[in-house]
Amino acid sequence: MQIADVQDIIDHEMLSHDEIVNRIHEVAKQIDKDYAGKTPIVICVLKGAVATYYELTQAMTIPMKMDFMSLSSYGSGFESTGKITVRQDLSYDVAGEDVLIVEDIVDSGNTLHWLVGELNRRGAKSVEIFSLLEKPARHTAKVELKYKGFVIPDEFVLGFGLDYDEEYRNLDSIAVIKPEVYKGANS
Ligand code: IMP
Ligand code: MG
Repeated sequence: MQIADVQDIIDHEMLSHDEIVNRIHEVAKQIDKDYAGKTPIVICVLKGAVATYYELTQAMTIPMKMDFMSLSSYGSGFESTGKITVRQDLSYDVAGEDVLIVEDIVDSGNTLHWLVGELNRRGAKSVEIFSLLEKPARHTAKVELKYKGFVIPDEFVLGFGLDYDEEYRNLDSIAVIKPEVYKGANS
């Protein structure tokens, strides 16, 4: 799905497909260097991180293992509730392993704050994060992002894995939704 397919609900495109993919490939090069000689478990936080995860792992040249975890903090609205539930857990035991989390966006930071704590409780040797997007204006929980794609303003975005009410994850770029679309949904 491309931007032309969703003109009616989009205010403007924020990041083009090429900008996003080029940035992810730069991050992959850095990760290759930082993890040289190691075999990290790279965790995809479902569902939002799928597009980023695919581009990142294809571009990586070092050995790695894939794992997936589904967490929920949002429901289908706009505000993070702060309470995290595990919908689908990892298949690997991360004790003694180098773990790299791949996320779509850090908003309040609640999800990643909880996940980093949980992986440390399970005995991971190291835990680092790559988040494609960061909205610093909205952080309430402290998270350290070793790798990030783009810092963005406090606007609701969709595409490249990010959803609005579970749709538009398959848009191949990142766009800002028209305010009247979500204002209409909230009232
Ligand atoms: P946090 O726990 O508040 O940091 O929220 C993280 C999750 O909220 C992300 O993984 C997304 O699924 C969702 N989220 C936060 N901001 C946006 C947005 O602008 N568009 C779509 N989803 C978002
Ligand atoms: Mg989401």
